[in-house]
Formats: sequence, structure tokens, C-alpha cells
Amino acid sequence: MRKEVNKFKYWKKLASHYKKMKKVHMRELFEKDENRAEKYTIKLDSMLLDYSKNRIDDKTMQYLTGLARECKLDAKIEDMFEGKRINLTENRPVLHTALRNRANTPVYVDGKNVMPEINEVLAKMRSFSEAVRLGKFKGHTGKKLTNIVNIGIGGSDLGPVMAVEALRKYWAKDINCYFISNIDGTACAEVLNRIDPETTLFIVASKTFTTIETLTNARTCRKWLVDALGEHAVAKHFAALSTNVKEVEKFGINPENMFEFWDFVGGRYSMWSAIGLSIAIAIGMDNFERMLDGAYAMDVHFRTADFEHNIPVILGLLGIWYNNFFNLRNYAVVPYDEYLKYVPAYLQQLEMESNGKFVSNHDEYVKYATAPVLFGGAGTNVQHSFFQLLHQGTTVVPCDFIIPAISHNEIGEHHEILMANVLAQGEALMRGKTVKEAAEELAKAGKSKEEVKFLKKYKSFPGNRPSNTIVFKKIDPYALGMLIAMYEHKVFVQGVIWDIDSFDQMGVELGKQMALSILPELQGNAYSMGHDSSTAGLIKHIKRLRK
Ligand code: F6P
Repeated sequence: MRKEVNKFKYWKKLASHYKKMKKVHMRELFEKDENRAEKYTIKLDSMLLDYSKNRIDDKTMQYLTGLARECKLDAKIEDMFEGKRINLTENRPVLHTALRNRANTPVYVDGKNVMPEINEVLAKMRSFSEAVRLGKFKGHTGKKLTNIVNIGIGGSDLGPVMAVEALRKYWAKDINCYFISNIDGTACAEVLNRIDPETTLFIVASKTFTTIETLTNARTCRKWLVDALGEHAVAKHFAALSTNVKEVEKFGINPENMFEFWDFVGGRYSMWSAIGLSIAIAIGMDNFERMLDGAYAMDVHFRTADFEHNIPVILGLLGIWYNNFFNLRNYAVVPYDEYLKYVPAYLQQLEMESNGKFVSNHDEYVKYATAPVLFGGAGTNVQHSFFQLLHQGTTVVPCDFIIPAISHNEIGEHHEILMANVLAQGEALMRGKTVKEAAEELAKAGKSKEEVKFLKKYKSFPGNRPSNTIVFKKIDPYALGMLIAMYEHKVFVQGVIWDIDSFDQMGVELGKQMALSILPELQGNAYSMGHDSSTAGLIKHIKRLRK
């Protein structure tokens, strides 16, 4: 049995090293070493990670990579790629990497190579997506299907919506994509109000095909379609993406329009599978495969690069450094690209559902912090919302900035202004502005002595606030594949260090269970004695209002 990570040699080294590093300002580190940026930069294809604006020195990185080795990260990486059952609580392999295994080398699960099945589904996705895009697969009344509605939630929604939005520039001209996820009827109503049943393809995406939100939304959409076009229309207007053939058949979706995936693909790791069908229809299968190529490039890098030059490993370890030694429990991801605006929402599920755990792989409560709270939004918008706290708040929030050097919409000087802003934010967070500097600036601006004295603290910035800068040439399908695979592996690295199962999600069950018991109470006269007084009171109050 593995020791708890906080008893490891390198953990202890890091703990005492932290006592020194917490007093060091990054300004000094940059001043001392003019090669710092170069030293802490990694390039892969057209991607660059600059992690020099972190509170680290060579010792820090030596200890962090030492910790990774002590946790046998290299062996764990191989276990994942080789299809070992690393999802212990569900006794499953974790093989989203096989979905984008572009070398097509065999990957075995229980002695069976899974690649032929994966390739078969990819081929089926190609022929179906092309038929829809070319208007060969028509609706019931013979019209081209131009409205693609993905009905799913969690991993069956966030990956597709994020990628479809990120790659909007690659959409077929006459295709529109919509996403229905929330059980809130408004989500359905707002989409259905905008589309025409004759030209709509509903894609019901659900790994289990039992998720109440997705099935309720799918039933509502089915009824809407049948009311307009009749029962026979369903075969031409519904497709399903699932691991559960039986439930798909029960729902009445033509098996020819069903795209399968497998238990070895976790929901939040599934956009590379059939769950990506809406992406493939929107951007075309060639572009979808470019996305897989990008993810594969990151997989190869993750599997082969030494830890010192391994992007996901470095990012994962930096997260550990802040979370477990600086005790920073928040983490922000800010893409400076409007098309990437759903990336933070996508990463919230990826990071928090994967690593928001409190029991270790050895059935013990962990005695250290696991996943931080992740939030974010597109720059520059969020500069005008939460950045005040990033610069002057009493808590420090490590940030990732994601930048494309070239925009898909180079209009006037928009992109240069955008870039200037993100670079300025990273520099400002790192450097800060001392009280003395603030006072000098105020005096120079002609403020009176009293004004300078009063304002100088308000106008100062502590700095020393860490950020990573991730630069791409342009956000194309390949780059997006790299970016998402990078974060998947970063999460994996942290899961290994924390010794938790990053691939189950038991924490979402209790709320679901309780909702099922509250539903009949809201709907009828059922009354449960089991509730606390707050919940019971709220049930009563809402029922009264709905009468
Ligand atoms: O939130 C729990 C969860 O199981 C996620 O892991 C998953 O992505 C989502 O629900 C949707 O599940 P399904 O694809 O089975 O409908």
C-alpha cells in the first residue's frame, strides 16, 4: 500500500523549501536570472508554455519532479495508456487516449484490441456527418438538416459545446448548432422556438442513457417533432450517442443512427468519441480528425517527454505546489479568445469532477487538499469583473492565460489590443507596484503631498501572483486538441500525486437521489418526514406559490 503523499520524502523537502520560497518575490527571481523565461518555457509544435511567472526556482522544480517520480507517475502514465483498470472504484480502464490513437497501434482491454471498434465508429461518424453536411441524409419531408441540436449534459454537453464554439470559424456555412442541457424547460423552449422541425437533427448524447435531464429533454423534443411531423419522422431526425444500446432502442431511436462508445471512456473525457458527433457535423470529419491529431501529439509528448520538459506534468506539479504548499484553493483559467469562452466551464467539470475527491485510492480519507475551485472567463471581459481581486484581493489565485497569436478575425487593431492586455496582466500580476512606486507615480502626476499619502497604498499592488502563459499560433482544430488533451493529462498528474481516482464521480449521486424523493412531494401530496425543517419549509412554500 502506498504511503500518504504528505509522508513522502519530496513532499517534506517541498514543505521546508516553501518556507524559503514564500518570502521570495518573483521580481527578484527575474532580476537575478535574465534567462529565466527561456529556462521555464516549453515548446511543442506551434504551442508554447511559459511558466516562468511562477514562484519557483530550480530547487522547486527538482523537488516537484522528484515527488512525481516518488509517486511513480511514469508507471501510472503507462498504466493508463495500456488500458489497465486504473479507475479502481468502477473497475474500468481509462482509454480516452485510444480514441485519438492516430498511430493505430493495438490497445488491449482484457486481451481484446479496441482499436478496430474505435475506427469503425470513427468511419460511421465520417459517413453520417458527411451525409448530413452534403444533404444526402435528409429529414422526413426531404429537406436538408441544417439545425443540429445536441441534447446532453455534463461531459455529453460541455465538450461538444466548448469545441463547437471554439471552432465556429470552421462550421459549414449552412449549419447551425444548438445545445440543450439544463432540465430547466427554458433551455428546450428557447431552442425549439428558433428551429424548424423539418430541418432539425436531434442528437441525444448520453453515456448511460439514463440521465434524467437528457432523457426528459429528449422526450420533450421528440414530442415536439412528432406533433409537427408524425411518429415516422423520428427515424430521420434523431440520432443517439451512448454506451447503452438497450436504452437507446427503448427510447425508439433507429439503431442505424446510434453511435456507440464504451465504458472505458469517462463522460468528461468523451468529446473524442461518438459524443463529438455534433462537432464532426459542424466542422467536418477532416477537421474533427485534426483535433484528434492535436490531442494525439499531446499524448505522445506526455508519454515520452521527461518530466522536466513535459507540459502536462509541469502544469500539474505547479498546481500541487500552490494548492498543497501555498494553500491556495482557487485557480483561474482565462482564454484571451472569444471562441474559447466555454473552455473554463469545460475545465470546471474536467478538474473538479475528476479531482474533487476526499477518499484515496487506498480507501483512506486524504489528509491534504485535492482539487482547487476553478473559475474563469474570456479576457478582456473578466478583467472588468474579477481581476480586481486577482490583483489586490487578500487571496492569491494562480492563473492560466491562453492566447492565440493570430485571431480568426483580424479587424483593425483589435487583436493587438487584446494581446497587449493579456501580456500586461501577466506582467502586472508578477511585478506588482510597490507603495513607494505608487507614491512616486502620484507625485509625478501632480498630486498634493496629502493626496499621495492617502492614496499610495490603494494604488499599490503586491504582485508576486503566479500565472502560466500558453500561446498558440491560431486556435485551429489541431491546437484545440492539444489544449484539451494537455488539461486532461494535467488532471491525471494531480490525481496520481493525490492518490485519488480521477475517473469516478460518486459525489454527484446524493443530490440526484434526494431530488428523486423530493419530486413526488412537489408534484402531489406525498409528504416525507425525513427532511430538515429548511427543506420541508421550502417544499411547502414553493408548492403554495405554484398553486
Ligand atoms: O455529472 C455526473 C455525470 O455522470 C457526468 O460525469 C457525465 O458527464 C454526466 O453526468 C452525463 O452523463 P451521461 O452522459 O450518462 O448522460
